Amino acid sequence: MAREKWGTKLGFMLAAMGSAVGLGNIWRFSFVAGNNGGGAFLILYLAFVLLIGVPLLLTEVSIGRKAESDVVGSFQKLAPRTPWYLTGFFGIASAFLILSFYAVVAGWAIFYLWNYINGSFFTSPEVGYDGAFGQFISHSWHPIAWTAFFMILTIVIVLSGVKKGIEGANKIFMPLLALILIGLAFFSLSLDGAAEGVRFLFQPNWAAFSEPSIYIAALGQAFFSLSLGMGAMLTYGSYLRKENKLPSAALGIGIMDTFFAIISGLVIFPAVFAFGIDPSSGPPLVFITLPSIFEQMPFGGMIGMVFFFALVLASLSSSVSILEVPTAFFMRIFGWSRFATSVLMGSIMFVMGIGVSLGFGIWSGVTPIGERNILDSMDYIASNILLPLGGLSMALLMGWYLKRSVALEATDLTRSPLGSLWYFIVKFVAPVLILLIFLNKIGLFL
Ligand code: PHE
Repeated sequence: MAREKWGTKLGFMLAAMGSAVGLGNIWRFSFVAGNNGGGAFLILYLAFVLLIGVPLLLTEVSIGRKAESDVVGSFQKLAPRTPWYLTGFFGIASAFLILSFYAVVAGWAIFYLWNYINGSFFTSPEVGYDGAFGQFISHSWHPIAWTAFFMILTIVIVLSGVKKGIEGANKIFMPLLALILIGLAFFSLSLDGAAEGVRFLFQPNWAAFSEPSIYIAALGQAFFSLSLGMGAMLTYGSYLRKENKLPSAALGIGIMDTFFAIISGLVIFPAVFAFGIDPSSGPPLVFITLPSIFEQMPFGGMIGMVFFFALVLASLSSSVSILEVPTAFFMRIFGWSRFATSVLMGSIMFVMGIGVSLGFGIWSGVTPIGERNILDSMDYIASNILLPLGGLSMALLMGWYLKRSVALEATDLTRSPLGSLWYFIVKFVAPVLILLIFLNKIGLFL
């Protein structure tokens, strides 16, 4: 059976940007930056996006395009009879871990959308947004129903095929989300006390750099936000035609994704300080900050509705890229239909999502890693460990296993002056940095 292909290069760009831009830019960026002291985290995150993220994005997409297979198959094709294909299984494991909590958080966003549509959220509840949100997420089945709804939407898009399902919607809603965020940032910056939020985000607290966990947090955020290391970009790359040029696409996606993150920071942190919210509130951070912003705004109810609509769509264009990773793999090895495979994979992830959701309610005492609840633990393993390891393996494949000329050819860099720079980064800089960050975290340098 012929593999599917993107209709146009623009189709690929939109899908890849859609994969990158999602809850990671708004929800995850804000709470991870908030937990890790703001400014110092931002500097590291930007450095990692530029130094490691964009070059590895080009690497990952090129591996997929060259091999024209899924995460496991691509490594088997390019590096036969080596253990490289294990990277693919790490990617599949990350896809299960990440989508099962992603769907829970996206479910929260759909619940907000629903409340803005029927007008019930706009009046400040007696317990405050903080309390109202806490009651909602700790409910035994209510948030799970929204998770199910989001998962069904994701499955429906994936089962209708990459092209039809994904290419269209992003064209309208990504620009819309950008516009709303920019507008919200101006509003947030005009609040009393906003300056403190701006300082928090941009003024690094130098002492924070001595903390090993901030490096791993910034690395994990760079990978998560760029959809890197799991094979999502690899799988999307495998649907590309050879004639599409990749380096500018990778840079474009990197810039776009970072832009969304910084604007979200400019929406959230001024408001966090203006409303006296704790920046280290963790995963609930944006969900307790945003309603306070909308409440203060003229037409806030309307704007809140459009914002959450755009956010849900942005999340969907990311979640489909995650579900596509195991779907493409299992379709190939077992010869199952796209329909059966995506339904089965999505259902397993949903069942895992039930556990994630209960982690905010009856299972809130379950802390698999340190103080982390179920969501935070799964996120930690997937985003901070598995994704960077996946990226490391891809860099080593390009930098050390394939010949230099083959690597440059695969990335369309043969005749570019940037070729040597990219090659140097994937061969030395990225692997060394990732290893140092891991070793540092394990405490090897203490
Ligand atoms: N990058 C997506 C986001 O920011 C999440 C994602 C992670 C998608 C890993 C694919 C792979 O929301």
